[in-house]
Amino acid sequence: MKNTDGSEAAKRTAGESAADLVSDGDLVGLGTGSTAAHAIRRLGDRVDSGLDVAGVATSYQSRELAREVGVPLESLADVSRIDVAIDGADQVADGNLVKGGGAAHTREKVVDAAADRFVVVVDDSKVADVLSHPVPVEVLPDARATVAETVRDAGGDPELRAAERKDGPVVTDNGNLVLDCDFGSVTEPAALARRLSGIPGVLEHGLFVGLADELHVGDADGGVATRS
Ligand code: 5RP
Repeated sequence: MKNTDGSEAAKRTAGESAADLVSDGDLVGLGTGSTAAHAIRRLGDRVDSGLDVAGVATSYQSRELAREVGVPLESLADVSRIDVAIDGADQVADGNLVKGGGAAHTREKVVDAAADRFVVVVDDSKVADVLSHPVPVEVLPDARATVAETVRDAGGDPELRAAERKDGPVVTDNGNLVLDCDFGSVTEPAALARRLSGIPGVLEHGLFVGLADELHVGDADGGVATRS
């Protein structure tokens, strides 16, 4: 059955199946979001049962959860490579991703790109033929207007992400703002990724092109399909 609401069951099967890949001694990149959270909780259970691993968090949220469930942590600043990273995505097409729904994509990209094995965990509502989800772009606060104008020149429609629970914009863990940039169907993600990376004032964008090694897709019936 195709899962259209991103049910927790689908997210859980994807997250947990990825956490089960982790081996003793691994340094694990801990992604952000509700699907990656299932992987972190499963890792916590496995640590309780004797698994010897350390995690590298991609956000305040994933760091706090790892602490809560007992996954030992190392600082990203102290590591140069990671064995396996497990992270969610907002959309997946042809192995490429849009990420950043949790405004954590800058740190996620550093961690996921440093991993020998980057495992993406999603429920099946996230899988598309072509990427079309708005692309989150983290910008220096003072560059938001100039970046927005350049995004418009590139054919995008930028919108400053607003905070859900208070007035004002979302502020990232790095103290910056997020422009969600709608480009419609992204038929050439690598070209768009290069263009966005070249805009002064852009810290990082949420297009992850050619980074994923493996995809775990959960469905609402508790099944998981893995693709490399
Ligand atoms: C955070 C992300 C998340 O991985 C992405 O938003 C998916 O989240 P969820 O698993 O809750 O749907 O990129 O920056």
